Amino acid sequence: MFQIGDITIPNRVVLAPMAGVSNYAFRLTVKEFGAGLVCAEMVNDKGINNKNEKSMNMLYIDEDEMPMSLQIFGGAKDSLVQAAQFVDQYTNASIIDINMGCPAPKVTKCDAGSKWLLDPDKIYRMVSAVVANVDKPVTVKMRSGWDDDHIYALDNARAIEDAGAKGLGLHGRTRLQMYEGSADWDIIKQVKQTVDIPVIGNGDIDSPQVAKQRLDETGVDAIMIGRAALGNPWIIYQVVKYLETGELVTNPSPKEKIDVCLLHMDRLIKLKGEKIAIMEMRKHAAWYLKGLKGNAKVRRKINETETRGNLTDILYSFAEVLEASSKAS
Ligand SMILES: Cc1cc2nc3c(=O)[nH]c(=O)nc-3n(C[C@H](O)[C@H](O)[C@H](O)COP(=O)(O)O)c2cc1C
Repeated sequence: MFQIGDITIPNRVVLAPMAGVSNYAFRLTVKEFGAGLVCAEMVNDKGINNKNEKSMNMLYIDEDEMPMSLQIFGGAKDSLVQAAQFVDQYTNASIIDINMGCPAPKVTKCDAGSKWLLDPDKIYRMVSAVVANVDKPVTVKMRSGWDDDHIYALDNARAIEDAGAKGLGLHGRTRLQMYEGSADWDIIKQVKQTVDIPVIGNGDIDSPQVAKQRLDETGVDAIMIGRAALGNPWIIYQVVKYLETGELVTNPSPKEKIDVCLLHMDRLIKLKGEKIAIMEMRKHAAWYLKGLKGNAKVRRKINETETRGNLTDILYSFAEVLEASSKAS
């Protein structure tokens, strides 16, 4: 258990914000697998301020996924503050998170995302302004630095704390690394030792054992899992259980994977309507089926499907084939 401002997070396992993935449908599914905190995909401050329909839909939150954190990004103070105030007043998000890690050029060229990593003074100014204008606790998610020559993680973490943020998430890669190489957990440990606010460590956690090792070695308050949870919310349950009891929970059966994939699909349909949801489910279904024998052929079929009925039929038939072949062997 740990605390972000007045919000109690019941365990030390956090779902990472992932654009195009961490919407209500995925978050609620992951929450049901025991995540202490789920984080929403980043939303553009201007999209919120202009009441852009897509951005507004991204603010949809379900009571059952609480506590949850909603992430915004932007490059200009007034605009970021305005968006934060909207989230503060008109959504039931538990926490407002500021993105300071996105490496995408379309974000950094607007002086947003990881661009701030070069300027602790700007971080202080921006985060203080947001904190001063909202009631909800504010956190920041950042990367270790811009590139190997510009790693200001300790200064940046101090600026975030001094500005009044109630926690920080740190992905141990530089902006230049994107997702290459491995995450640097040493810098995460140094940041934890530098500030008093809770630190959530992030990068390359893909098993219960690695999660425990990172927590033990760095002393971070929690760990955040991103890519390992794609099509695999079980990782969250496995990590939570291992941290609580030391027990290693077995992987789900193919049928269980398909059932959860379909549950995820129905939630996505509720959120986005059938057409868009099924298009988006193509990538999720591929993730859920990863590692299952014969999945390549099924994935090709899924990539042509446009309806709930069709996707359901394809997945159930595949489950039957897998079940029959496991009985035969
Ligand atoms: C598809 C995808 C989308 C992402 N979108 C966001 C985002 O919206 N906001 C953010 O702070 N980080 C985002 N990230 C970064 C993740 O939150 C996380 O820091 C990164 O994947 C490292 O963690 P992992 O090794 O557990 O995947 C994204 C990552 C991926 C793979």
